[in-house]
Amino acid sequence: MVTFTVEDHDGNRQTVEAPDDMGLSLMEVLKASEYPVLATCGGMALCATCHVEIVEGENELCHATDVELDQLENLPAYFPTSRLACQIRISPLLEGAVVKLRGEDN
Ligand code: FES
Repeated sequence: MVTFTVEDHDGNRQTVEAPDDMGLSLMEVLKASEYPVLATCGGMALCATCHVEIVEGENELCHATDVELDQLENLPAYFPTSRLACQIRISPLLEGAVVKLRGEDN
C-alpha cells in the first residue's frame, strides 16, 4: 500500500491509502475515494478534468509527458507541477506525496 495526502478544493487535506500492485491510476483512486473528479474521457489524457497539482513529492512525479502537457497548456490555469491524475500510476513513488485537486468539480 502507498499512502499520500489529497487536498480538496476547499483546502481540506485527507490521507488516502491505495494498493500499488493493481495498476490503478491516481484518477481511479481519487474517484473511488469519492473526490469530485469528472474524468469525462475515462483516463485517455483528453479532457484534463483530472488536473491535479503535485504540492509535495514533485521530484518523483512532476515529469508530465508531452500528451499531458498538450492538455495542461490548454487549461486556463496550470502550475509548474500540474499533472493529469489519470496519467499517474499508483506506485511507491507516490508515498508521502501531497496532491491538490485542480480540476473542475461540477
Ligand atoms: S481523465 Fe480525462 S484527462 Fe485524465
